[in-house]
Amino acid sequence: MKFIVQPSTVANATVTVPGDKSVSHRALMLGGIAEGKTTISGFLAGEDCLATMAAMSAMGVEIQQTAPTDVIINGVGLRGLVEPLRELDLGNSGTAMRLMAGLLSGQSFTSVMIGDESLTSRPMGRVITPLTSMGAEIDSHNGCPPLTIRGGSQLRGIDYTLPVASAQVKSAVLLAGLYADGITTVKEPAVTRDHTERMLVTMGVEVERSGQRISIRGDQTLSCADIQVPADLSSASFVMLAAILSKSADVLLTGVGVNPTRTGVIDILQAMGADISLQDARLYGEEPVADIRVRASTLHGGAVDPRLVSLAIDEFPVLFVAAAAASGKTEFSGIGELRVKESDRIAAMAGGLRNLGIQVDETDDGATVHGGQFRGGEVQSHGDHRVAMSLAVAATVADDAVTVNDVAAVNTSFPGFTECLGKLGVDIQ
Ligand code: S3P
Repeated sequence: MKFIVQPSTVANATVTVPGDKSVSHRALMLGGIAEGKTTISGFLAGEDCLATMAAMSAMGVEIQQTAPTDVIINGVGLRGLVEPLRELDLGNSGTAMRLMAGLLSGQSFTSVMIGDESLTSRPMGRVITPLTSMGAEIDSHNGCPPLTIRGGSQLRGIDYTLPVASAQVKSAVLLAGLYADGITTVKEPAVTRDHTERMLVTMGVEVERSGQRISIRGDQTLSCADIQVPADLSSASFVMLAAILSKSADVLLTGVGVNPTRTGVIDILQAMGADISLQDARLYGEEPVADIRVRASTLHGGAVDPRLVSLAIDEFPVLFVAAAAASGKTEFSGIGELRVKESDRIAAMAGGLRNLGIQVDETDDGATVHGGQFRGGEVQSHGDHRVAMSLAVAATVADDAVTVNDVAAVNTSFPGFTECLGKLGVDIQ
């Protein structure tokens, strides 16, 4: 599957992008081990979250999808999951596999997790190490999937400092902490998304937070909840950039999650000159939400503050496109983690942008993007949803048509992406 995008005039529009991927995964997992009936509205029915849904169902959780974005979960309680009959296939989803590694470490049964080609090459040592020190027994293929998690280990609480800033690893340890004796503490080197902590609080679990240290006591009961999932800021950022790069568009994105652990993309784009404002700030449970108004703007380059990296970790592909369309050069540093995402995103974006006539100088953990004008051509997504969508946004302001190859993975996080860009007036086939 490929996208063919023509240079387009982006129109004024009000759009709602699909639900937040991180929150949707967590709602399924935590709702599954809560007591009673949890409802989810605004659920992201993308392939990644559907993989988590299938895995929870395979472990005995009754889940009904009453509409594409409405889900009812009959929670089985902390100790109620049952042994799956076969391997749990988490597809493309690193979040599903890493969070579930924490959940499965505390079970009485053995389970095996597999994934697609991309997931099978992603590092799992970062969860295996702390979970093993809690007493879990995990086999892997040289630190990569498949993962076999042996059942029946009694976990013990640990005090663990994360070597990399990763919400997935933090969450895995906290979920295992629910099954551990005593207190489990995680200290993060930089603030990462805190949806797990917030949702645990929504479900009545005591979570102690002091600075970058988060502690949880084992054996707490999770209460069911009605969870309203905000629209995903990561998906919204593609629409935001299309509006920013346009000649005169004024676009409103409604009900977007603006949890401060996620809003680095807004800060970075504003520092580059983007006209972005938040309206009607509100809460969905513990999650801050707002409507985001974005207007056509002129961007300039500069050095991106490395302290914002963990708060914008999934938005660097789209930020590379912003940098390519900005005047001057933009320097990204401290983004080495991008090399172990769904693809090596530094290399994938550098390659894609070079094909469109942009100069990009790569380092091990960064890149300098020289602003320029995109020409038409053909680019590769490397099977990475965010690379595919970022390059499609670049194409809206290219001199000629751009073909983006291998885009099927867009359905992992943003079903309806082409329809959404179509609503903005983008000619995307
Ligand atoms: C996620 C955390 C991030 C992010 C991923 C979703 C999560 O990964 O890249 O898309 O839901 O916890 P890391 O925490 O490993 O950086």
